Amino acid sequence: MCGIIGYAGPRNAQEVLLDGLRRLEYRGYDSAGVAIVGSGLQVFKDKGEISKLYTSMPEIRGNLGVGHTRWATCGKPSKQNAHPFVDCTNQTAVVHNGIIENYQALRKQLTDEGHKFTSETDTEVLVHLLEKHYRGNLRAALISALKEVKGTYAVVALRTDSNEIVAARKENPLVVGLGVGENILASDVTAMLNYTQKALYVMDGETVSLTADKVTIYDRNNDVVVREPSTISWTIEDAQKGGFEHYMLKEIYEQPTAIHNSLLGSLDEIMSEGSLVDQDFGAVKLVACGTSYHASMVGKYIIEALAKIPVTVELASEYRYSPGTGENPLTVMVTQSGETADTLAAAREAKRRGCHTLAVTNVVGSTIAREVDSVFYTKAGPEIGVAATKTYSTQLMAMYLLGLRLGYLRKAMGRDEIRSLSSELRSMPQYVRGVLDRASEVDDSTDMLVEARDVFFLGRNINYPTMLEGALKLKEISYIHAEGYAAGELKHGPLALLDASTPVVAACIKDHTYEKMLSNISETAARDSPILAIGEEGDEELLAVADKLVTIPHVAPILSPVPLTVVVQLIAYYAAKKRGCPIDKPRNLAKSVTVD
Ligand code: G6P
Repeated sequence: MCGIIGYAGPRNAQEVLLDGLRRLEYRGYDSAGVAIVGSGLQVFKDKGEISKLYTSMPEIRGNLGVGHTRWATCGKPSKQNAHPFVDCTNQTAVVHNGIIENYQALRKQLTDEGHKFTSETDTEVLVHLLEKHYRGNLRAALISALKEVKGTYAVVALRTDSNEIVAARKENPLVVGLGVGENILASDVTAMLNYTQKALYVMDGETVSLTADKVTIYDRNNDVVVREPSTISWTIEDAQKGGFEHYMLKEIYEQPTAIHNSLLGSLDEIMSEGSLVDQDFGAVKLVACGTSYHASMVGKYIIEALAKIPVTVELASEYRYSPGTGENPLTVMVTQSGETADTLAAAREAKRRGCHTLAVTNVVGSTIAREVDSVFYTKAGPEIGVAATKTYSTQLMAMYLLGLRLGYLRKAMGRDEIRSLSSELRSMPQYVRGVLDRASEVDDSTDMLVEARDVFFLGRNINYPTMLEGALKLKEISYIHAEGYAAGELKHGPLALLDASTPVVAACIKDHTYEKMLSNISETAARDSPILAIGEEGDEELLAVADKLVTIPHVAPILSPVPLTVVVQLIAYYAAKKRGCPIDKPRNLAKSVTVD
């Protein structure tokens, strides 16, 4: 989703802004632009890649500027609709993330008052409102402007006649980076890692005044906020490709470490006070979107098996509009970014219903982390590839930890049982490494998928959601239509669609569903579908019915989603690579979806 960067300091603002925009690319965007106070206000923006801006922009001297990556919501992707926007006098520039819901009424009113609009966007009303309310103090003008606005925003503005950047936030992330003699504002810390590790998170309702030497945050009552800066633990190397061709591949390979880090400490504390949750909840509801929804679906199998309590899973976009049942389960919001608009709205709804809310997120200081009752941070490190990989496998770790914790609190699991599963979980990084060591086998197996128009992913029980995730990954990055199916449902329709041109990827591990899966695979083979099976080492029976077999190490069935996930991620990656797709920045996909 859109990204913001602002800079005040002695460096060349143009360089800092373009560097910051590149680091925000992973959020997904269709156009980008910068406004720099040099000799007057200089604005450069365009549709398409940031590299285009790099080459088309002349050198601009100036030490104050704002930049933006846009992901179109109001108005198509175009140069006119790209941010920043300037007022009629070309003195004020604005960038904005979020949505101004009443922009049409405001636009009409401002047009009647003589303001000239140049775009179709909602954001442009903000710069005209600033122009209208400006009386010599830009932050005061911003506060007055925002009083007229309905909607959500992280909004950042500057003027040619001042050395100050001002900003405000409502339901969209905004963070200040504190440097020495320079300061930065951005949508997330990855844009500022080159310059500082010290961050101040801006909260809803607050406004900011930022110059090279000073940052002041004000609360809703316009009182100065005193807040200790946080130290960003991510390094610039964490956010770079490190020799891999794509961020996605790098992040797939980082999973052993990410899994290890996410378990570290938490697993040792699972039977201690203060771990995850302290109450024995009788039921759990998991609420999420996209890939996080699939992690939650796996979580249902895990938590029900370990804690022996009912678990329901809901899409955040559905939950928030449902009437509620009057029950108050532990409500867990699973979101790698912590900024997904639907998941945030669902968290607020859960609180309104009186539920205890727990967030599972990867981003410290994210909006969800501040809104819920308690937080579990996955420790995947920065994920730059738009398609979630290591954040997904670490969400699975959160599900195991939650299952173990609730199992312990409810006495559904004995200490020995907990210790035994914990020790198997500790071996997960090693099993994942085992899968990665055989990545070339997966690469070879994807030849059968590359030309396909449709692919089915089949699984049963705990590995059914993993196959939904496999299908989603393939769709997201290779643009091949793929459907994940519970194998038992094949006979209720989809069998009719299978033929020699429709490959099937089937997970078949040696658990209680093994025989049934083998029969389902035979059914698909009878329709001539090419079969890529994922099974355990040495499984001759499976090899006999499959065209290709990719093997995973034998682990306890409840842990099988972990190695299996890595295989389906690699399948999607290699298929997309062979099709020449832009793997790290797939079309129409944003890393963090802050609109609903
Ligand atoms: C977008 C991303 C997905 C992600 C989903 C939910 O669609 O591209 O990778 O799964 O949002 O995001 P969240 O941050 O809430 O996990």
